[in-house]
Amino acid sequence: MEVVPLATVAEVGALAADTIEALVRSHPEAVLGLATGSSPLPAYQELVRRHRAGTGPSYAGVRAFLLDEYVGLPAGHPQTYRETIFRELTDALGVDRDRVASPDPSPDLLPGAGERYEEAIRAAGGVDLQVLGIGGDGHLAFNEPGSSLGSVTRLKTLTAQTRADNARFFDSVDEVPRHVLTQGLGTILRARHLLVVASGAGKADAVAAAVEGPLSASCPGSVLQLHPHATVLLDEAAAAGLARRDYYREVFDHKPDWQRP
Ligand code: GLP
Repeated sequence: MEVVPLATVAEVGALAADTIEALVRSHPEAVLGLATGSSPLPAYQELVRRHRAGTGPSYAGVRAFLLDEYVGLPAGHPQTYRETIFRELTDALGVDRDRVASPDPSPDLLPGAGERYEEAIRAAGGVDLQVLGIGGDGHLAFNEPGSSLGSVTRLKTLTAQTRADNARFFDSVDEVPRHVLTQGLGTILRARHLLVVASGAGKADAVAAAVEGPLSASCPGSVLQLHPHATVLLDEAAAAGLARRDYYREVFDHKPDWQRP
């Protein structure tokens, strides 16, 4: 795992954007895995800024798969993750909406929704680069603590903490759906490159547990330790709990140019 302690959120966003752009330049038909939530926003805003300035690559050939989706919101609701990613990223990058896939929470189709999503990812050749945030309790996507480390896309029930955390996007916590469809930890592990972004003191404990703690379903983020190519970009506050922070920074400072995006 490559852990990169940076100074600011802006640096996290810029390096994440560099990484995504480098992939799309070398593979114009790349399959991106996209996360919603606040953590990737600085990266997404930077990608959009560069695209509008004409310095970014073309995204016309890219395909995208979302990590997760709420169950119970009407199609087109502004807080569905599908609408959120259109609004925050893919529309602005010129990715056709038909090329953005997300777990389908239609009530009649729920029983087979997970397997169909897994098949769609397989049929697209798998995810090349998966953007990830991490929850304050160490969750990845909507894989709450206790999720099987080998899990696949399925229905999950959110914890009270996650519903409270996400209430900021709704009028009240009661409006936050209780159920979601989420890629599993096993699904996420099949992506070729994991790009995790985290910022703020509220993520410091989760980051330390995921990166340096024991591999455990109690901290879903610890599955990052099993992946052959995981990159974790942190601002100063999010890196504060890492025992080996200085070493990670030394590694980054001396990284060969050919390994940089
Ligand atoms: C949410 C999302 C995750 C996200 C995490 C952290 O519930 N399902 O994909 O990474 O929780 O969210 P944030 O980035 O807003 O802190």
